Amino acid sequence: MEPVKGLILSGGKGTRLRPITHTSAKQLVPVANKPVLFYGIESMAAAGIIEIGIIIAPETGDEIRAAAGDGSRFGVAISYIEQDAPLGLAHAVLTAERFIGSSPFVMYLGDNLLRDGISELVDAFRSEAPDALILLTSVPDPEHYGVAELDGGGRVARLVEKPKQPKSDLALVGVYMFTTAVFEAARAISPSWRGELEITDAIQHLLDTGLRVDPHVVRGWWKDTGQVQDMLDANRLILEDLAERVEGELHDSRIEGRVVIEPGVRLERATVRGPAVIGAGSRITDAYIGPYTAIGDDVEIARAEIEHSIVMSGSSLIDLEGRIEASLIGRNVRVGRSPGLPKAYRFVVGDNAEIAIL
Ligand code: TTP
Repeated sequence: MEPVKGLILSGGKGTRLRPITHTSAKQLVPVANKPVLFYGIESMAAAGIIEIGIIIAPETGDEIRAAAGDGSRFGVAISYIEQDAPLGLAHAVLTAERFIGSSPFVMYLGDNLLRDGISELVDAFRSEAPDALILLTSVPDPEHYGVAELDGGGRVARLVEKPKQPKSDLALVGVYMFTTAVFEAARAISPSWRGELEITDAIQHLLDTGLRVDPHVVRGWWKDTGQVQDMLDANRLILEDLAERVEGELHDSRIEGRVVIEPGVRLERATVRGPAVIGAGSRITDAYIGPYTAIGDDVEIARAEIEHSIVMSGSSLIDLEGRIEASLIGRNVRVGRSPGLPKAYRFVVGDNAEIAIL
């Protein structure tokens, strides 16, 4: 078999993650201080995939290029493929046809995270050589997902999008393996009611034309980080496996549990209870950082408490009463107390932001 190529979908609209996605790509939101996208690139590298194409959108493409570069630091070669408009996952596949050529390939949604990577899946595809292979996971609420029904022989019989009465609890995870047969299938289908060329329709077309689609059920956890709660869950799950490393300076401060403190961090009269990570150059003073928190680089937290949250680089949280939790705070955000009177809340907040006050 020709070497397997990788295709990571990192375009899209990201509407469910606004306002963060008004200024930045959702695939670059950090999970445990590393962009979501990098986990996908690393899992491809670990599966022995060297040639990776990344689908980018015109609006966020430059930022993604700048972040992932030519791929050399991951040990892979990255090409960027611009998709003019987010017209669906099967449209993204067609956009990448020239890059893929005649190779089999793994397609990975750039905002997805898989604990155990994709090596097992790629090996199964290499040894079994089906026309396509789809990754599945058992979910308690299959009516909210694309669901695969299997036949008696354990092959995929049918895919159903958000079935009202699901016949299986096996939801499609955002990783697929294809041969070039998928291009013809993607050309044969029409846009769905939401105007997108759906990958489930293309896979159903493969089945309808008698081709073989194998299922592969994931064992470790899988997360689609399309929404804030999912991002925080992914952050928690990745932090669960954190290896402790303390490089910054501690003054009258306490660290409990597994914590990463990057170089140039200064903790003063602070308590950090892991698992938590604090990015380079951050200053934490008279503050409490609780479990499942990822603080980016050059963040300032003073006289404040926070847990189970993501704070991106360059932000500050100063003089806050009460504890911040389950929050996603973007880059260069200032949250603080305004001096003087009148005593009032004062906000400069972008579109689609969410603020909850006690
Ligand atoms: P989705 O999360 O399904 O779509 P989206 O990014 O437009 O987000 P939202 O629904 O919140 O508006 O996309 C899954 C992944 O695939 C994500 O990394 C974006 C990418 N994608 C493309 O690259 N091209 C596309 O045409 C679409 C629809 C998604």
